[in-house]
Amino acid sequence: MQAVDYGTYNPNYISPRTHAKLESLVKTIIANPGAMMKFGQFDELTAKIDPKVVIAHLPKGVGEEQLFGMAMLSHDTECATPIYTRELTERALRFEWPSLDWFIRQVWDPDEESHFLPYRLFGMGMGASEAHMDERVKRARASSFTHRGVDTPAGVVMFGTEQEYLTGNWHRIMAKLIRPACPEAASAITWVAQREVLHKQWYREMAAILLEEEPRRVQEMAHAIIRFEMPGNQICPELEHQVSGWLTNMGADIDQIVAGMVREIYKISSSTGMAGKMALEIGEAKGMKMGWIKVAHVHHAINRLGQPGSGIVGEAVMDFILTLVGESLLEKFHLSKLWTPEKNSDPAYRFYTGPVELVRSLLRNWVASKIKVDLGTSIG
Ligand SMILES: [Fe+2]
Ligand SMILES: [Fe+2]
Repeated sequence: MQAVDYGTYNPNYISPRTHAKLESLVKTIIANPGAMMKFGQFDELTAKIDPKVVIAHLPKGVGEEQLFGMAMLSHDTECATPIYTRELTERALRFEWPSLDWFIRQVWDPDEESHFLPYRLFGMGMGASEAHMDERVKRARASSFTHRGVDTPAGVVMFGTEQEYLTGNWHRIMAKLIRPACPEAASAITWVAQREVLHKQWYREMAAILLEEEPRRVQEMAHAIIRFEMPGNQICPELEHQVSGWLTNMGADIDQIVAGMVREIYKISSSTGMAGKMALEIGEAKGMKMGWIKVAHVHHAINRLGQPGSGIVGEAVMDFILTLVGESLLEKFHLSKLWTPEKNSDPAYRFYTGPVELVRSLLRNWVASKIKVDLGTSIG
């Protein structure tokens, strides 16, 4: 695995072959975008919300103020769609990536623009005035937003994958909180959550194409994961900064959310070996340790093995180690059941069969017990 040489490598350039694959994916999405929500669809929702009932049904640890803050965080970040659309279409132009522009203008933007509605109606049901909600929209759309992640095609789709994944999870948490008191509001929010899941899958497919066709993008992607932050940090920081406290109050299962993100990263990688490379890039950039060994040292050793001239043995050993790291990462997050040996898909398996499987499983357990990768800190 070579470090990216920015002297010759232009990460903003997408090859014609990759473009063709991305275009065909976007055409499929445009032909079948699924059921989007419409304005006016839930107008009767406000009248169905009784604040007293909602408050009476809140779980222990969650007060009215917290619930309203959580709903307004969703509202404010969702209603800022025009800002994100501007940022994304500007990048489609800069990266000479027309299919990203089609995707944003024809599917993503028209879909996103209605997502704040259930929260607007819920806010009004809880007693906020229409003028207050209008003011929130105005304020959110006037805020400044800078993409602070990795500003390359791979960085943008990784940001999209992560953002949609976490947003979908958030809507699901909201729907669960509201469901006992107002199932109608919860099902409108669940609809939004399901749309975010679709968005996540679309961005994830774009990321997978970019990585499969242009594997050196793994480094940008790893850095995009590390540098990720939710848009709420800029659109409504006073609410976003309360998220970890809110999640703690509710006893939310953060490990499960992190494990889900690892699963997405694994799906973007074309093999366990590639997932391992991604894990190493993340680990090195964050100065993490695998047991007593610094990830940077492992990475350095692997880079040396993979250098030209080291021959097929070096390549095979490199694949083997990367596969182990990938598997160990999955095991750490109890995702090993996702990993099934597909002998034809991962080059590592072509070199190792039979007795080596035993060694492999011994080593896998050893690495799993030693690895100390705390992805939780990389997810904002
Ligand atoms: Fe959304
Ligand atoms: Fe979305």
